[in-house]
Amino acid sequence: MPVERVRNREGGDFLNSAAYKAIGILDSGVGGLTVMEEIYRQLPGESIVYFGDTARMPYGPRPPEEVRQFVLEIISFLETQEIKLLVVACNSATAAGLSYYQQETALPVVGVIEPGVRAALRYTRNRRIGIIGTTGTVESSTYQGVLTSYDPKLNIVSQACPLFVLLVENDLIDTPEAEKVAAEYLHPFQEAEVDTLILGCTHYPLMSDLIQRTVGPRVRLVNSAEETAGQVRSILKSRQLLNPSPGTQPRHRFFVSGLPAGFEEVGSRLLKRPIKAYQLHLS
Ligand code: DGL
Repeated sequence: MPVERVRNREGGDFLNSAAYKAIGILDSGVGGLTVMEEIYRQLPGESIVYFGDTARMPYGPRPPEEVRQFVLEIISFLETQEIKLLVVACNSATAAGLSYYQQETALPVVGVIEPGVRAALRYTRNRRIGIIGTTGTVESSTYQGVLTSYDPKLNIVSQACPLFVLLVENDLIDTPEAEKVAAEYLHPFQEAEVDTLILGCTHYPLMSDLIQRTVGPRVRLVNSAEETAGQVRSILKSRQLLNPSPGTQPRHRFFVSGLPAGFEEVGSRLLKRPIKAYQLHLS
């Protein structure tokens, strides 16, 4: 494997030691694991530190100022864990203030909204795009703003689906109640004839089978994970921060603010390997 080298001020080469650091990922719970899974697929040599703020989830119904405060606390913790880049793998937290986090830390910070928008614009044929997300994300209108900045003529329909996060976190996706909730939330998209539906919450890919069944096969679901992971890779590459020794066993560490058991169970199933999470009280 080629070793990444950077030039020092005197013009000599030295190993970019920051490149050995981990990628930090945060979410309110297990949702960000859908982004982590894709980062791991695209960058298997990178170590990852994940924080799920399970004691304070859901973030969706909270005011943006509160979510920003929580995110800053998590960033402070992750900065103690030797990270080189931060992924805010939560739409609600991204909508609450991505540029704010970018100002508050020297780390490169990647959100999940812009990548989802780029993917949706590639997929849509009839320029009718649906967005589902938490109440915070939908009320912020961040998706609408970014989408229309690329194409002001888009037809956009959005719907908050606050119960979806709870169905995922409590492992209730395969229940008749979940079917009913999905039918109710997703009904407007069939009427609006959208051909593309943005899963504007990182928890939703965990219930994409149910969502797809409900909206029908003609609607393409957009999961921002793949595009987000691509952005992480290109930032690390351009800053010469890709792990220089990807052959060595990367470390994946998980921290949660609530009890680890539920997170470990859902997370192990999603990542298809057993994971161990450590509880950490913030603030
Ligand atoms: N996974 C999150 C998101 O993408 C947050 C869900 C929540 O805590 O309400 O919005």
